[in-house]
Parts: sequence; structure tokens; C-alpha cells
Amino acid sequence: MNVPFFDLKKQYQRLEAEISPALEKFLPQQAFILGPTVESFEKGMATYCHSPFSLGVSSGTDALLMALEALEIGPGDEVIVPAFTFYCTASVVVRRGATPVFVDVDLNDYNILPAAIEAAITSRTKAIIPVHLFGQIVQIDAIQKIAIKHSLPIIEDCAQGIGAEYKGKRAGSFGRFGAFSFFPTKNLGAFGDGGALTFSATADYDHCKILRMHGSRIRYQHEEIGGCFRLDALQALILEVKLRHLETWQEERRSNAAFYNRALQGIGDLILPVENPNCRHVYHQYVLRTARREGLKSHLTALGIGSEVYYPIPVPHQKSMDYLGHRPGDFPNSEQLSQEVLALPIFPELDRSQLEETVKGIRSFFAA
Ligand SMILES: Cc1ncc(COP(=O)(O)O)c(C=O)c1O
Repeated sequence: MNVPFFDLKKQYQRLEAEISPALEKFLPQQAFILGPTVESFEKGMATYCHSPFSLGVSSGTDALLMALEALEIGPGDEVIVPAFTFYCTASVVVRRGATPVFVDVDLNDYNILPAAIEAAITSRTKAIIPVHLFGQIVQIDAIQKIAIKHSLPIIEDCAQGIGAEYKGKRAGSFGRFGAFSFFPTKNLGAFGDGGALTFSATADYDHCKILRMHGSRIRYQHEEIGGCFRLDALQALILEVKLRHLETWQEERRSNAAFYNRALQGIGDLILPVENPNCRHVYHQYVLRTARREGLKSHLTALGIGSEVYYPIPVPHQKSMDYLGHRPGDFPNSEQLSQEVLALPIFPELDRSQLEETVKGIRSFFAA
């Protein structure tokens, strides 16, 4: 049996009866840029994220970039980011002319280490970007304490964390900004690129509305640089339909994870993902660890079972970051994780037999 790593066609089949009539109504209007469709989605998104405001933007990357621009972060400034994340959490800092200051992550939950954040703060530090990696909230109490103590804004990278909770509060409601991605395979995915920002302050929301439109409040008058950071109305339409189902999908992901957690206990040297106290993990990815990662991955591939490595190279060791002069050993946990992590299929539409097949494949590897 083939078990794909993800299968977007299955999700589309579940939604076709809702999406097709919505598109039929929308397309004759030929109104593609911002407007009521985007505003309606933004309201739903803010409510879902327990945040007072949300803005639809062009991608998760642009959401992070806009937050940095809104904070006027630029040359001479430092921004603290985890070493183990998707590349763009850090590359946006470089694109603003500032310096990413990498800190290591926890081997237990793969998220940024609060103590390492505090140790990395200097007089040039202007913001902290914690990432809710794989769908679990960072140690936010400790990070908020550090941020308050040093008067630093938090930009939450929520690209993988939509709907993740800590003490009942959702990703994007803790920091000054929350940056979301609607890349098609995300827990809430568009039919192309898309993203959103959430805000705790009205002033930031108003400011980013201007930045999203080339720094313009009044047509052809440009107060700031900004960019073309808009979410397409077509994407907003799709996202609004999908948002109505997101909670069901989150629970399906959690149920798939619970199945793996039961079935994979005590096999070989596997270390299974943890759910921290008071957290609702939304399992954007189900990521386990093994020292035999390469062998296990090849074995699963030969059986037709998908798996992925997120991420094989810590960001400070990417070629584009060479200029920062980091050496092997600088981020031991991130380096270890990059050798050991493996993500299993976890998408909501997986059926029981596919979950069982994946477990069987893993068992047969460690039994051999
Ligand atoms: C942690 C993290 N941050 C940011 C992004 C960027 O999102 P996008 O691909 O929508 O630009 C991603 C997307 O993969 C991500 O995983």
C-alpha cells in the first residue's frame, strides 16, 4: 500500500461541493484585489487566532518581513531567531539589513530555548522571533518575561502553528505580531501562496495596512517604502471555506498523532514527539528522532511510505549565512536534530490502514 507524505487532492474532494459554488459566485465579479472577500476572511482569521486584528498578506515570509519593517528594524540591529527552523525566519532579518542572532533549541520539543535567548541579548537586539515549530507553542511564559524585562517586541512565527494553544490561548495572540503562512500544505492552506499577520496593537495593524500597499494610504501618495504584500481575494475565498473545517482537521491530525504515539512506543531507539503541559499541539508535522534516520527513511521509501526531513541543515550553517562565521558545534542541539529528525505522514485524511501501514514499515525496519 502506498502512503503519501501528504495528499491535497483528498482534502479538495472533501470540499469541492462548497468551493465550486463559492467560486461560481465570486468569478463573475472579477474583483481580485483586497475588498470584502479579504476583509471577511481577516475577521474570521482574527477570531480563530484569539487576536483583535488580522491582515491577509502575500505569504508567511512577507508577513515576517512586514513585521520587521513596521518595527523599523534595519542595519546595525540584531534579531534573535532559532537555529532550527525554516530558512526564512532568519533570511527576512538579513533582507532588512539587520543581523540574525541564532540561538539553540530544546532537544525535547525542538523549540527555541528561553535561557539561550536571554544570553544572546545585546544593546543592539531589537526583536525576538520564536517559532512554534511543527505545531507546538514555544515556552511562551519564559519568553514573554524576557521580552518584558528587556523591552523587546515578540514576532511569533506561526507559520506552522495556526490553532496551537497554550493555556487555551492560540498562536498569534501572545506577541506584538503573529506571522502565518497559508502555503498549500500548511494546516490551513491556500490554492497557492498566502499569509497573514495578527496584531495586539491597533497602531501596528493600521501601519501594516499601509505597508501592504506600497506604503500608501492615499492612492499614489507613498509615505513609506512598503511593498506589494496583498492576499489575493481568490485565496481569501478558498481560505474562508477551509477555515470552517480547520478545527475538525486539527483534531484529525491530533488523533493520527495519538495513534502513532501508542503504536510506536518502545520501538528501537525512536524518540517520539512530546506535547508539553497546557499545550494543544496541532501537529503540522509529526516529527520523531532516531540515530538511524537515513536507514529508516530509505526503508520507508522502498515500501512506498512517504517521510521528510525538516530540516537537514541548521540555518546558521546554510551557505548564505557563512558570512556570520558560525562553526560546527555552535548549536549542538540543532545540529543533532538535523541528523536525527524524520516527519511521518500526518495529514487529516490519512485512513487507519495507512497509519497502520506506516507503523508496520517502521517496525519491520527496527526488527531487521
Ligand atoms: C517556520 C516557517 N516560517 C515561515 C515560513 C514562510 O511561509 P511562506 O512559505 O508562506 O512564505 C514557513 C513556510 O514554510 C515556515 O515553515
